[in-house]
Amino acid sequence: MDHIFQASRQWERIQDRWITEDASVNLTNLKSDPRNYKLSLWDPSTNGVRYLKALTYHLGMTSSVEDLARINRTPNRGIGNPITVRCQGELLCMDYLQATFELGFIEQEIDLTGARIMEIGAGYGRTCHMIMSNHDIASYCIVDLKNTLELSRAYLRETLDDDRFKKIEFLSVDGLVGGALKSERFHLCINVHSMTEMSPDTVRAYLDLINETCSAFYVKNPVGKYIDQSLDGYLQGQEAVQMALENGPLRQLVDIHDSQAVQAAVPAFIDGYRPGDAWDCVGDSRALPWSYLWQALYKKPEQ
Ligand SMILES: C[S@@+](CC[C@H](N)C(=O)[O-])C[C@H]1O[C@@H](n2cnc3c(N)ncnc32)[C@H](O)[C@@H]1O
Repeated sequence: MDHIFQASRQWERIQDRWITEDASVNLTNLKSDPRNYKLSLWDPSTNGVRYLKALTYHLGMTSSVEDLARINRTPNRGIGNPITVRCQGELLCMDYLQATFELGFIEQEIDLTGARIMEIGAGYGRTCHMIMSNHDIASYCIVDLKNTLELSRAYLRETLDDDRFKKIEFLSVDGLVGGALKSERFHLCINVHSMTEMSPDTVRAYLDLINETCSAFYVKNPVGKYIDQSLDGYLQGQEAVQMALENGPLRQLVDIHDSQAVQAAVPAFIDGYRPGDAWDCVGDSRALPWSYLWQALYKKPEQ
């Protein structure tokens, strides 16, 4: 009984290794070194999945009924082994939470029934998958680099039924030379987190194409560039950082973890992604959950 209040084996080990007799001597880095990580349990260098799941869970628990319904109507989301949590009965991952927020924002302004849509830089196709699963779309044209295009073709072939899949056209950027698409007309163009990774000249060419062929444009991209080695230790090397800094229409540095600095960068974002002078920005907001991603919807006035 004498030892009933003593440390468990778990805590004996912690006191041997981290919160040692010397732990109180120097408080300089107390809150961001292993001493605190044994107390607060949120060591950011080793807990990536814990953070992702916590954030996904938080988004799931604060999502609206409509947000969750859009996800529920999107079948086969388990393909590709996503990292998931279950909230309010629904299996959720970060990609489809973002997709439902994107579609919810678009739906506020655009009636997608019978719409002809073009998406530039679709990744594996999550946004297309969600839109096709929630609306009766007339056609969906994905413009992308060759290898990514094959990835979205394979993914959407597996996730969508035949009727929906048949409505998708996969167009490689190589096929854009010589003015292809210029005679097409789209109700909506979508660009999510990809113009920021294209050269400024390429972005200008796409905005001109959108100006010529589309009547609305949804864009979601960073409000600027940032340099913060503490985020990922520049895991991909200095060269990757340099390449990221030279791309996109917005290349000014922003403190992306300062809400006032992000807000101050918004007017340049709205102007930077406007396809043409006549286009009106009819809505914009922060794109959850990221501090520095902004979304905007533009419409071209009827001529
Ligand atoms: C970071 S991913 C974003 C993918 C997707 N929108 C998402 O949010 O999951 C960037 C996308 O842009 C595409 N991309 C890069 N350069 C491109 C270009 N010059 N023309 C068209 N697509 C491009 C990539 O292949 C990829 O699909």
